[in-house]
Amino acid sequence: MTSAEQAALEIRDLGIRFAGSPEPAVRNVSFTVGRGEVLGVAGESGSGKSSIALAALGLLPPDAEVTGSIRLGDQELVGLRGRRLRAIRGRRIAMIFQESVSALHPMRRVGDQIVRVIRAHLPGSRAEAGARAVAALHDVRLDPDRVMGSYPHQLSGGMCQRVMIAMALSCEADVVLADEPTTALDVSLQKDILVLLRELVASRGLSAVFISHDLGVLGDVSDRVMVLYRGEVKEVGAVDAMLSRPQHPYSQALLDCVPRLGGDRLRTFPEIAADQAGGWTGGGCNYAARCPRAADDCREHPDLRVVQESLVRCRHPLGEAAPAGSAGRTEVLR
Ligand SMILES: Nc1ncnc2c1ncn2[C@@H]1O[C@H](COP(=O)(O)OP(=O)(O)O)[C@@H](O)[C@H]1O
Ligand SMILES: [Mg+2]
Repeated sequence: MTSAEQAALEIRDLGIRFAGSPEPAVRNVSFTVGRGEVLGVAGESGSGKSSIALAALGLLPPDAEVTGSIRLGDQELVGLRGRRLRAIRGRRIAMIFQESVSALHPMRRVGDQIVRVIRAHLPGSRAEAGARAVAALHDVRLDPDRVMGSYPHQLSGGMCQRVMIAMALSCEADVVLADEPTTALDVSLQKDILVLLRELVASRGLSAVFISHDLGVLGDVSDRVMVLYRGEVKEVGAVDAMLSRPQHPYSQALLDCVPRLGGDRLRTFPEIAADQAGGWTGGGCNYAARCPRAADDCREHPDLRVVQESLVRCRHPLGEAAPAGSAGRTEVLR
């Protein structure tokens, strides 16, 4: 995307703090999604991925404090409420939720549910909405003759997920957010769904944010990837650079957790609480307590900077020499 083109979604200095939480769930997060682009957002559980998506849809609890800006084309979304928010949510920006299968009403036929969503957002008769629903089911490779009249319990989990995608795309939103579609354990199903979504996004010229804790899954379906850790952007880069030359030690650790073909054992992430690691709380890098490359200067909070092709928040990125004295930590943590 050139700077002359307007991004489909532009987030600037986003901060989110939940009432009563000691630290913000999201801080200083900035990124753009270009038209026709898929941005993958990776990070372990609790890193703030869902909070960002929910903020874009105005779905955070009312006592959550949101600062900064979220622009959908010309429209500012932060602070938008009521009718004006509802006119945009679902219609111009659509979301496929984490565990979204449970969002289907168990007692209503699938066809009726899709038609209701379409009629809430688009003008036209019930018959027109019905035709749109049938077309949307075709697009997600489901048989409308079978699925329209079914109840959710008559469909598999994967089929329900496709129904949710059909619903989200049926109103022709131009930005789609997909938050860990399918469960954490079902990585291959998640990948199938994201590959399908990627095709639909490409064929319609939409923009998308795909959220997953699994960097491997995102690598196959994203143009660029952003890595979040404890509410902060640690790295943003083109997908190839991210997978082959990650710069942030946390990006590398996420990649090390991806199971490889050939049966390497899945490496589990070293869990060390910040307060256990002594001295690494406070203003410095919030990953330092777990970082094999942490050095004394990491006690100062790092800014984002360009290293090779990526934007990285780290004083000792992997593309540069390891700091003296970090080897001992490497032994302990890896
Ligand atoms: N409704 C909420 N109230 C209070 N804290 C929340 C709420 N939702 C999320 N959080 C906290 O915000 C942080 C980020 O959570 P979340 O955005 O769900 O992360 P992710 O989607 O990456 O797992 C976590 O520490 C989580 O406990
Ligand atoms: Mg989440």
